[in-house]
Amino acid sequence: MNYLKAFIEDCKYYDIAQIEVKNILKYLKKDYSILDIGAGIGRLSFPLSKYTKEIIALDNNPKLIAYFKKHKRKNINFICMNIKDYIKTNNNFNMYILAWPVIDFKLINLIEKHLPKDSIFILITCHNDSDYETIINKLTNKYFRKESNNKKRFLEKFTKKLIVIEKQDINTEYIYPDEKTAFRVLKNAINLWFNIKFNKKLENKLKEIINKHKQNKKIIFGEKIYFYVLKKKLK
Ligand SMILES: C[S@@+](CC[C@H](N)C(=O)[O-])C[C@H]1O[C@@H](n2cnc3c(N)ncnc32)[C@H](O)[C@@H]1O
Repeated sequence: MNYLKAFIEDCKYYDIAQIEVKNILKYLKKDYSILDIGAGIGRLSFPLSKYTKEIIALDNNPKLIAYFKKHKRKNINFICMNIKDYIKTNNNFNMYILAWPVIDFKLINLIEKHLPKDSIFILITCHNDSDYETIINKLTNKYFRKESNNKKRFLEKFTKKLIVIEKQDINTEYIYPDEKTAFRVLKNAINLWFNIKFNKKLENKLKEIINKHKQNKKIIFGEKIYFYVLKKKLK
């Protein structure tokens, strides 16, 4: 399965109730401009575009250009660029969103430096101990520990550099209609995000994990989310 297809399917079954979007909406005004940093396939940009003036969906992955060309929205502009280059000359947004970011410590100082003083910065990422996140641990027993520590340090540093207006832990879910769909989507997503190649043994382990999350016919994985609303510190 190709990158874009796996990305789209991964998002399709996540947070169907749009709890992340609803929490962002509490801070959004209809004349706002938003910079969605690392927007991916616009999982947040598209629903938010109904409630605000304009959104720049920024992502440095050129594979996403085709997606945004196909799914046009008048007030969403996709820009394929690294945030490190873009933000130096484009820093006049009312709201900045960094959701499910790739952990990169250089981003922290960069954001602190370029965030305008009245703008809102929303940082969303997942807990390391939710049902969904621990799939990799259960499958491989090794990879995730280093990632977890990095994320913890990233959040600590980020929230020290800025003022925390709100910090919430929210519960979202991945809901798959049946085992077959869960297996296909999870296998592709795990391969996409963690570069894990599946053999028969790993496939069987994944099926076992999926089975433990069966509720009636559906497969449900809980996902805990850190939701931060931040602002620039006044010096
Ligand atoms: C895990 S995805 C999250 C996508 C989206 N924010 C969401 O919540 O669905 C991370 C995205 O960040 C993008 N990304 C990573 N580093 C970046 C950078 N330095 N500048 C712009 N985009 C970046 C990746 O290409 C990827 O699409």
